[in-house]
Amino acid sequence: MIERTLVIIKPDAVKKNIVGEIISRFEKGGLRIAALKRIHLTKEQAKGFYIVHKDKPFYESLTNFMSEGPVVVMVLEGKNAISEVRKIMGATNPSEAEKGTIRRDFGESIERNAVHGSDSSESAAYEIAYFFSFLEIF
Ligand code: CDP
Ligand code: MG
Repeated sequence: MIERTLVIIKPDAVKKNIVGEIISRFEKGGLRIAALKRIHLTKEQAKGFYIVHKDKPFYESLTNFMSEGPVVVMVLEGKNAISEVRKIMGATNPSEAEKGTIRRDFGESIERNAVHGSDSSESAAYEIAYFFSFLEIF
């Protein structure tokens, strides 16, 4: 099924100047960019994006990290885009991620793990609408 998913290149990876390299991995993996922008989230915007994690012990630290510097947000489209993107990203914890995945190669810690990808069609719908209007996605 052709799906759309929301990807964020997180502040740690933007700071390292590896935006192009990360996008290239998704493109080589068969994903197509349907929307893209570079923004600097406020703490409140980061909290709204990660609202599903509001009761987790890492919520405060995660939302500080996500608002510490610019991020690149994009909508990627392709066959089974949600699971394909998560495969290319690798496990949440870089030390547990498979060789050749983005998080294994570029993640610094379980928090500073370089990329975000939606985990379901429901979260993709919420996350895409959080950053992009209908007219910006094509
Ligand atoms: O991003 P992913 O869906 O793989 O993991 P998550 O469980 O939805 O957690 C969201 C984000 O919170 C992760 O990508 C990490 O940046 C961060 N996190 C953390 O700092 N400490 C944890 N124990 C778990 C997640
Ligand atoms: Mg998640």
